[in-house]
Amino acid sequence: MRAFVMTRYGDASAMEMRDVPEPTAGRGEVLIRVRAAGLNPIDYKVRQGAMRLVHRLDLPQVAGSELSGVVEAVGAGVTRFAVGDRVFARVDKKKLGAFAPYAVVHETLVGTMPQSLDFADAAGLPLAGLTALQALRDELAVTEGDRVFISGGAGGVGTLAIQLAVRMGAQVATTASPRGQELVRSLGATTVIDYRQQRFRDVLSDYDGALDLTGGRDLSDSFAILKRGARTVSVAGLPQPANARADFDAGPLVAAALWAAGARIRHRAGRSGVGYRFLFMHPSGADLDLLAGPVDQGELRTVTDRVFPFERIADAFAHLEQGHAKGKVVVRM
Ligand SMILES: NC(=O)c1ccc[n+]([C@@H]2O[C@H](COP(=O)([O-])OP(=O)(O)OC[C@H]3O[C@@H](n4cnc5c(N)ncnc54)[C@H](OP(=O)(O)O)[C@@H]3O)[C@@H](O)[C@H]2O)c1
Repeated sequence: MRAFVMTRYGDASAMEMRDVPEPTAGRGEVLIRVRAAGLNPIDYKVRQGAMRLVHRLDLPQVAGSELSGVVEAVGAGVTRFAVGDRVFARVDKKKLGAFAPYAVVHETLVGTMPQSLDFADAAGLPLAGLTALQALRDELAVTEGDRVFISGGAGGVGTLAIQLAVRMGAQVATTASPRGQELVRSLGATTVIDYRQQRFRDVLSDYDGALDLTGGRDLSDSFAILKRGARTVSVAGLPQPANARADFDAGPLVAAALWAAGARIRHRAGRSGVGYRFLFMHPSGADLDLLAGPVDQGELRTVTDRVFPFERIADAFAHLEQGHAKGKVVVRM
């Protein structure tokens, strides 16, 4: 089969279309005929080698982190899915494989696709949706009446995070350029700051939690807008020592390197009297089923920026890497 393969670490030329063998489903796995696949910044960050310290891939490898499709075959012991089911998944981080006509995923990572979505919209939901859900529910424990700040609300994660935070009862403030302002307001953000004109730390104060999607200066600025004892969870900043073992199965050397690299940001958080954690989202079929419910009830909207044919996936990446997508970029097989 023709797949989009990461051949080495490097620039865009490090990924290319190649013929690879079709995978087969092992025990507990489902073979999915991929109908669409979502693109994510993590795909090009991994290609650039940004995750190399903590997450080394066995190359060459079929790339791609999330997909939607139809179950083609099931391996021994599979109980949750049958041939013909419409499914979606954030695939195993080490195996990847979504940018191909067929992919194999363990059944525990697979969810039943929302009935109301087509394959393209469903393919963009898993990675961003799980990230938003796990950050708001597990790391920030957002509850009714909270005031939550989300930086970068117009992107793949932000468009879902705004809606999920509102569903949890929060009031949401976010940053967006004029191109994204109408969108983030339509999703439920009540305070929208044009980050090109104003620093949000000059406008906001006394927030109960912050979800950082942009990193850099925004991450340290988020500490200044929180109540004492509140927390910023970042998915765009630096992983912390605690992530080494929990998320990357890495040893004490990696933990020490992350400890040193993150010392300054932890110090800044400490000085503001707030907490800082880095979240590396985890694939989960059970959490995907939690996301599918509100989608089918019309309470969670997917936002798809552009759909490219699979043959033009390199163009899709060039578009995503410009960093201005409103919602998700997807390829259709
Ligand atoms: N740790 C994890 O598990 C995890 C999981 C998912 C994502 N992430 C990370 O989270 C980040 C966001 O992911 P994503 O998929 O949402 O990215 P994305 O879709 O590529 O985000 C693009 C959007 O961000 C906006 N933007 C860019 N710079 C901004 C700024 N300084 N302030 C406000 N908005 C800004 C852009 O709007 P304009 O062009 O209009 O400004 C654009 O709409 C990435 O760094 C990604 O790697 C991490």
